Amino acid sequence: MKFFVDTADTEEIRELADTGLLDGVTTNPSLIAKTGRDFIEVIKEICTLVDGPVSAEVAATDYDTMLEEGKKLAGVAENVAVKVPLTMAGLKTCSQLAKQGTLVNVTLCFSAAQAILAAKAGAAFISPFVGRLDDIGQDGMNLISDIVQIYANYPNLNTEVLVASIRNPTHIVDSALMGADVCTIPPQVLKQLVSHPLTDKGLAAFLADWEKTGQKILG
Ligand code: G3P
Repeated sequence: MKFFVDTADTEEIRELADTGLLDGVTTNPSLIAKTGRDFIEVIKEICTLVDGPVSAEVAATDYDTMLEEGKKLAGVAENVAVKVPLTMAGLKTCSQLAKQGTLVNVTLCFSAAQAILAAKAGAAFISPFVGRLDDIGQDGMNLISDIVQIYANYPNLNTEVLVASIRNPTHIVDSALMGADVCTIPPQVLKQLVSHPLTDKGLAAFLADWEKTGQKILG
């Protein structure tokens, strides 16, 4: 399973990219707004930090403008994936951009029916929002299970299931169990993944015992 980070904060991206754990980045208008920086500049910089896809979202809602915005974003760097909302205009834009060889991430997916449409439109990624479904009392991971199962029925389909709106490490483990292709993870959740109290306790004991040996591995 691939790991994308869900942020537009270039310092956070740089730090995580250095670990070798990152396969890509997703942004959205809210994350861009948080940076207070120029959208195109931020996307350009992020694209230099990771080799994998960097999702940049269109802001228009009509097809013609969305398509123009999508073309402009795709021109920023080779690894831009244009993000479009799951509306009829978004699907039409997806279809058109995909035909031109642009990677498209169809976002704001909340149903299996919508995911079927995105695949039909040639999306490279479908982004179902699990946390936002959980927030309204539904089980977001059921949607991932349904989409993974549906896509598996059509082996020629190239659309990857990109689990978005992740709130905790369990979402990620469950996504892997279900065979999702990608998780886009907020930086704080990515850091939570590594933590386990028994790891900390075990390491402290090993270091204390090592100290007693008086040895050094280097020098
Ligand atoms: O980038 C899309 C998605 O991951 C947003 O998550 O936490 O705003 O629901 P959230």
